[in-house]
Amino acid sequence: CGIVGYIGNKEAKPILLEGLRKLEYRGYDSAGIALANADGVHVYKEKGRIAALADRIDQETFATMGIGHTRWATHGKPNRENAHPHQSASGRFSLVHNGVIDNYEALRNEYLANVTLISETDTEVIVQMIEQFVYDGMMVEEALRRTLSLVHGSYAIALIDSKDAETIYVGKNKSPLLVGQGDGFNVVASDALAMLQVTNQFFEIMDEEIVVVKKESITIKNLQGDVQVRAPFTAELDASDIEKGTYPHYMLKEIDEQPAVMRNIITAYQGDSGKIELDQDIREAVKNADRLYIIACGTSFHAGLVGKQLLEGIAKVPTEVHIASEFSYNMPLLSEKPLFIFISQSGETADSRSVLVQVKKLGYPTITLTNVQGSTLSREADHTLLLHAGPEIAVASTKAYTAQIAVLTLLAVDVATTKDLHHDFDVIHELSLVAQAMEVLVDQKELMEHLAHNYFETVRNAFYIGRGIDYYVCMEAALKLKEISYIQAEGFAGGELKHGTIALIEEGTPVIAIATQSHVNGSIRSNLKEVAARGANTCIISMESTAEDDDQIILPEVHEYLTPLVAAVPVQLLAYYAALQRDCDVDKPRNLAKSVTVE
Ligand code: G6P
Repeated sequence: CGIVGYIGNKEAKPILLEGLRKLEYRGYDSAGIALANADGVHVYKEKGRIAALADRIDQETFATMGIGHTRWATHGKPNRENAHPHQSASGRFSLVHNGVIDNYEALRNEYLANVTLISETDTEVIVQMIEQFVYDGMMVEEALRRTLSLVHGSYAIALIDSKDAETIYVGKNKSPLLVGQGDGFNVVASDALAMLQVTNQFFEIMDEEIVVVKKESITIKNLQGDVQVRAPFTAELDASDIEKGTYPHYMLKEIDEQPAVMRNIITAYQGDSGKIELDQDIREAVKNADRLYIIACGTSFHAGLVGKQLLEGIAKVPTEVHIASEFSYNMPLLSEKPLFIFISQSGETADSRSVLVQVKKLGYPTITLTNVQGSTLSREADHTLLLHAGPEIAVASTKAYTAQIAVLTLLAVDVATTKDLHHDFDVIHELSLVAQAMEVLVDQKELMEHLAHNYFETVRNAFYIGRGIDYYVCMEAALKLKEISYIQAEGFAGGELKHGTIALIEEGTPVIAIATQSHVNGSIRSNLKEVAARGANTCIISMESTAEDDDQIILPEVHEYLTPLVAAVPVQLLAYYAALQRDCDVDKPRNLAKSVTVE
């Protein structure tokens, strides 16, 4: 979900709509805005995309303040009633909210027994409670603080009062929210990139704080009402990084950016000595640990699985990889000196954050690997390793995945060097070769389009198979295909197919093997023959070409540890073209959101 707000002298509507468009990749089930002027508050909501909302707004409404929201549904269906802003019973207050209120039913029973609620959402409870407290005689700010002190859960909210067109009230707990400062205006945004077109000066808001935002002032307070003083920071984002330029989709642009990202990562981590030099504290933290626990979700989890191979293979540190939402409720027995590494492109994923909060309470050291400096996971962990991938806008992650693997490689090599482990892995040279290999692969779009047509145009399901590190890439390859083309796809360990899944192979079922590891390539080719004999439509992604294979994607030669980085490119492109050929919305696949800030 995304939140925006504007208060100033200019017309608010275009600024809010532009901000919402920038945040749309974070949720796009429905959207709404509330505009306030001397006549009161005008609320417009629509199911679906921001474009649909823009069409709905009365062009005559002129206002210089307002709030807006784009939604990824948690409580209640994605329809107009459940879209934000939500209003209080009298219509006086309008509120937008990201997050989840855990105790909303209890609050409703206790404080709103006499109020008829309009929507099915937890959000409405907040705005109705504020109104009730105002009826009881509280000032608006006090009513807001009182409500938020009763709420359990996560929230980033913006509130406006139709009787006061000069104030936006803001509150935050666990969900991201920033207040931006301009000359004669101020803004609210759940992500700086929403408002970069008007300012790059932002105030970080801490958990359990509220902010009173006026045209000329920003006042941050805690829930007790004490003023909190802090300086703004400059968002180091370039507005042009978040435009797609001549590309038809962000995903294609981001796939193409991968060679440059590899080079950025080398530059960012190369010390004066010309070698990779990580922060001394990070080195120490890894050196002192007897086991690493990688925690992540989705694509980042898949990068973590590859990372385990690198950390164990190169740095000889035992490493476990866990899905955050599983770890949270089912913590395994930990080693004596664990170190937690959180991998999160956005740095905002609630499932991962929940584990971070738990392990911090237990006193364990933590590192976050993220693409977003200043994100929640980055702020809350002891140390941060940045991905330097530039903003990733397409919902399906591509360049952040390869950046995660590249940074994990640097970590593994750096640790091996500090531990005086002998290795002949010249990581800068090897990653430069990867960048070149990626360049070759991103130029093979016609081949990928043709293969996508042969394999995926009409099928219901598809399989990727591999062994060892290739198996982990297969999991990511399958996830890419599922996410954007809606083909049911699975990544399998090659040897495991015959133990059940082979029953699904029919005439024409696509099975694509990734075979980059010399010690298992023979076995994976045998697996491919087994499924071909049963009618599968087979293809192999490999460094060695053989005459007998029907379809092949040949990968340029890179170090065996780094093959995931190059194998990732063709599988991303295959998914991209499969989605295009099936008329799917590549950048905004149904039901998904770029960063999920609810557990
Ligand atoms: C969402 C996205 C996925 C992403 C996952 C983890 O589900 O749709 O593409 O991999 O979150 O996101 P993170 O920002 O923590 O890497």
